[in-house]
Amino acid sequence: MNIVKTVAEVREQVKKWKSEGLSVGLVPTMGYLHDGHASLMDASKRDNDRTVVSIFVNPMQFGPTEDLDSYPRDLEHDSKIAEEHGADLIFNPEPEEMYHDNFSSFVDMTVLTEELCGLSRPVHFRGVCTVVTKLFNIVQPDRAYFGKKDAQQLAVIRHMVDDLNMDIEIIGCPIVREADGLAKSSRNTYLNAEERKAALILSQAAALGSKLVQNGETDCTVILNAMKEKIQTEPLARIDYVKIVDAATMQQITVVDRPALCAMAVYIGKTRLIDNFFTEDIGNGGAA
Ligand code: PAJ
Repeated sequence: MNIVKTVAEVREQVKKWKSEGLSVGLVPTMGYLHDGHASLMDASKRDNDRTVVSIFVNPMQFGPTEDLDSYPRDLEHDSKIAEEHGADLIFNPEPEEMYHDNFSSFVDMTVLTEELCGLSRPVHFRGVCTVVTKLFNIVQPDRAYFGKKDAQQLAVIRHMVDDLNMDIEIIGCPIVREADGLAKSSRNTYLNAEERKAALILSQAAALGSKLVQNGETDCTVILNAMKEKIQTEPLARIDYVKIVDAATMQQITVVDRPALCAMAVYIGKTRLIDNFFTEDIGNGGAA
């Protein structure tokens, strides 16, 4: 497995593979890889002849008060995980390689991005769409893999690919959790022992909401109130949002009468964590 830092090196390698008729999967990440990322690599390995993993902590998707500087980084550990999961190439550019001095073109989306995480992270999805477009242009993969953990991001990427006629198949993969239910996340490393325990409240609230839907509850107020009450039992938790939205439009709904996404962002101490479930996944292993 090769680790490269320049766009030119990625292009050269991918060109070679394509000339041999090999298919290419891309797993975009910000590194500090865990089993969630690994599951995307496994899926890519299953579907493609070659897998590229990008590791780039993208400054453009962080707001001015967010955790860009403290975001965990460990390339040595990451390359081990990527190698173990069959990656063929790691693209690990420096910010200057991705954004030169007069960089001035952005991919902005006017739907889907205003709700949920977009409300408290106003520049986030512009940064995500721009960097993912760049990665797609650099790697030109046949398929790209994204986790349902970042459900809104997955919906945004699917929409972008459709709007801009990008010839790339987007594959959404289930949330990978710790044994006790906490969704795996690079940001879990911010949690101290007490917060780590408290963070369980997210997956517990998701499990409660999912159970209510499974038992036939369709009133979003009832479901959300039950979930919020549950979260409020945890003194270290502070709710950013808990919402139920149409899974296609990300607009809030009042009745679960169509495929829906129930998503939450909750601060545990200073750390903002997310979790969710899609009503479509309930009962088939994809839910909380
Ligand atoms: P990052 O947070 O590193 O996540 C990379 C990919 O791994 C995303 O598609 C995310 O949804 C997926 N992922 C993270 N935790 C997961 C889990 N527990 N189960 C399943 N999948 C999980 O998301 C980003 O980076 C960035 O926004 C990026 C798309 C790379 C653009 O910069």
